Amino acid sequence: MVKEKILVIGASGQIGVELTLALRKIYGAANVVASDLREQNPLLEGSGPYVSLDVMNKEMLHVQVIRQNVTQIYLLAAILSATGEKNPNLAWHLNMQGLLNVLDIAREEKLAKVYWPSSIAVFGPTSPKRDCPQKTIIEPTTVYGISKYAGEFWCNYFFSKFDVDVRSLRYPGLISYKSAPGGGTTDYAIEIYHEALEETKYTCFLEEDTYLPMMYMPDAIKATIELMEAPKEAIKTRTSYNLSAMSFSPKEIGAEIRKHIPEFEIEYKPDYRQQIANSWPQSIDDSVARAEWGWRHEYDLTRMTADMLTNLKREQFNN
Ligand SMILES: NC(=O)c1ccc[n+]([C@@H]2O[C@H](COP(=O)([O-])OP(=O)(O)OC[C@H]3O[C@@H](n4cnc5c(N)ncnc54)[C@H](O)[C@@H]3O)[C@@H](O)[C@H]2O)c1
Repeated sequence: MVKEKILVIGASGQIGVELTLALRKIYGAANVVASDLREQNPLLEGSGPYVSLDVMNKEMLHVQVIRQNVTQIYLLAAILSATGEKNPNLAWHLNMQGLLNVLDIAREEKLAKVYWPSSIAVFGPTSPKRDCPQKTIIEPTTVYGISKYAGEFWCNYFFSKFDVDVRSLRYPGLISYKSAPGGGTTDYAIEIYHEALEETKYTCFLEEDTYLPMMYMPDAIKATIELMEAPKEAIKTRTSYNLSAMSFSPKEIGAEIRKHIPEFEIEYKPDYRQQIANSWPQSIDDSVARAEWGWRHEYDLTRMTADMLTNLKREQFNN
């Protein structure tokens, strides 16, 4: 059996930290190399090897892949939706060239597998709003969404032309308490829990009835690892899979928090992110992922809220 050696690029980010820790449990700490442009996230310290790496520097990336005998890459470095609208050139450049660098190296070095996340941001105002299917009209209006959709077809291209086993998920908005979010339109659903505990009030940058597809981080990590461990033949979608767990509005998450913190208040001051949110579907149909590799989610809004508040309270108490 080939011993797997995994390189996680963008490991200090919101997903990277938790994914790296989960992969280290499965493959052994020494076999999962964390890397990022910024310094190591304190949550990763002492848990395994870390290298400083810029995914845009293809030569350095290539050297690391050879030096560390890397067999799999998880590429998480990207500019997210809200930040991308402020700096479209940078978002396009990083999101595209970073992926192409990884795919090229995967082809040259015959890596076993590559993981690269897409996003529900590929969908645009002309896509169905409810239960948006895997295959539908896709006309993204954010630079982030355009870069993700183009990236999906690069993945498909490298799989069909060069047999690079690259796999991908269209994550919904991800909610977590460990590492801070990285500038997405769904970040409100994380801030709200922090503010509920610290201030018992929150000013939301989206309108109260803005429904968006969301997922709790443990489900996202589970989906990623299950997708990567599925047999190659099961992965029939080589662009990116729709992935879903729940859909809620700021008003609904506020009501759920009030079950734990009755005095919690929420007010609404929508900003430029409202327009991004309005362009996305409210819910996603992920039946293809469920059928092809057996995806099942575990967390709904009620269960996630209880878990978020318990863990954030524990962290407050420890600090
Ligand atoms: N968080 C979400 O809700 C969400 C939803 C859909 C898709 N995604 C996708 O998941 C991936 C990870 O998202 P995240 O939320 O963890 O993002 P994040 O911004 O929290 O983390 C990204 C990490 O990449 C690093 N990075 C940036 N430029 C780099 C470079 N040139 N070289 C190396 N590292 C670099 C950053 O320092 C950061 O630590 C992205 O592709 C994102 O588009 C995230």
